[in-house]
Amino acid sequence: MKAAILVESLTGNTWKAAELVAANLQQAKWDITGLSKVRDPDHASIQEADIVLVGTWTHGLFVVGQAPAGAALLSQLPAMRGKQAAVFCTFALNPAGTLDKMTRIISGVGADVIGGLAMNRRHLDRNAEEFALRLLDAVPARR
Ligand SMILES: Cc1cc2nc3c(=O)[nH]c(=O)nc-3n(C[C@H](O)[C@H](O)[C@H](O)COP(=O)(O)O)c2cc1C
Repeated sequence: MKAAILVESLTGNTWKAAELVAANLQQAKWDITGLSKVRDPDHASIQEADIVLVGTWTHGLFVVGQAPAGAALLSQLPAMRGKQAAVFCTFALNPAGTLDKMTRIISGVGADVIGGLAMNRRHLDRNAEEFALRLLDAVPARR
């Protein structure tokens, strides 16, 4: 499988999560076609990919108002009709509806969003492994 990864990150947690997910998938022989910023997406890597992984961080007032950081940027991503996608977000306390909102936005650019995971920023290693395992389960390897 070929996966492109797009990330919005302010302080580096979500970028680190993306790198960990990429490493886990590469161990399972997936190709990572590119890891780029949501605000400067690598179009070629998206085009080449079978699945696009989109990650951002939880922005809000910690107990209310949580939403994906960079929601407007996410909605401006290139059209992904015919591609699968999966979403992930990092958070400190409580992501609330962040993943659901991401799913709606990424579905809005045409992708078939097959799932997502909210990752506590203190447990990125464990969460990234879990996310990669879920992807490997959900997307059968090509023969
Ligand atoms: C302005 C701001 C608002 C935040 N709001 C929330 C929030 O509402 N809920 C939460 O769980 N984490 C919140 N966080 C924590 C971030 O989601 C968390 O630290 C995340 O891992 C940051 O990702 P990054 O390092 O990729 O930028 C907030 C962080 C900032 C800077």
